[in-house]
Amino acid sequence: MDAADMGRDLERVLISEDELQAKIKEIAGKIDADYAGKDLLIVGVLKGAVMIMADLARALRIPVEMDWMAVSSYGAGTRSSGVVRVLKDLDTDIAGRHVLLVEDIIDSGLTLSWLAHNMRSRNPASVEICAAVRKPDAVKVPIDVKYVGFDIPNEFVIGYGLDYAERYRNLPFIGTLAPHVYGGGTESAAEKP
Ligand code: XMP
Ligand code: MG
Repeated sequence: MDAADMGRDLERVLISEDELQAKIKEIAGKIDADYAGKDLLIVGVLKGAVMIMADLARALRIPVEMDWMAVSSYGAGTRSSGVVRVLKDLDTDIAGRHVLLVEDIIDSGLTLSWLAHNMRSRNPASVEICAAVRKPDAVKVPIDVKYVGFDIPNEFVIGYGLDYAERYRNLPFIGTLAPHVYGGGTESAAEKP
């Protein structure tokens, strides 16, 4: 796939690279203030959070540790069900530590709600959530997100870590996929880590 194919597969840009970068810097400033003098562990959820983790970590001015989890959200078909399988657990013991879970997207909220609950069962000092984007119209479980980049419409999105069948994660912006790519259906990559 070359750049021209990528361009054709894209329907429209929802959030530009500049908008994303500015927002991540703004969020990093809030995290710097909120966690000043505290021992913070940021936990990225693979694979989607790779881009926001890399940008956020470099924009932070406070020292942090980074760790990763990989989970798979089982859906009955294409939708996230909230039944989560851990593919890679933390390397770190988080007891007594401040944890910030970092995700690409909150769609139904089921995955992050499960993850936050799982983290809290390990007796950390605190657990908060940061996500690049959220779909307010898709949320099925109330979820307390401390830092969110953008609220977006309830459409399947790609780029900035978000994939369709593992492609498009490397786009530096967030966009919607042209219907010809997915055959006009509503297939989702929700079960992908
Ligand atoms: P929820 O919040 O529904 O999200 O548990 C579970 C996981 O599904 C993926 N997801 C998406 N991936 N475009 C994507 O590329 C989307 O629009 C989208 N919605 C959900 C994502 O990995 C999330 O962590
Ligand atoms: Mg994800």
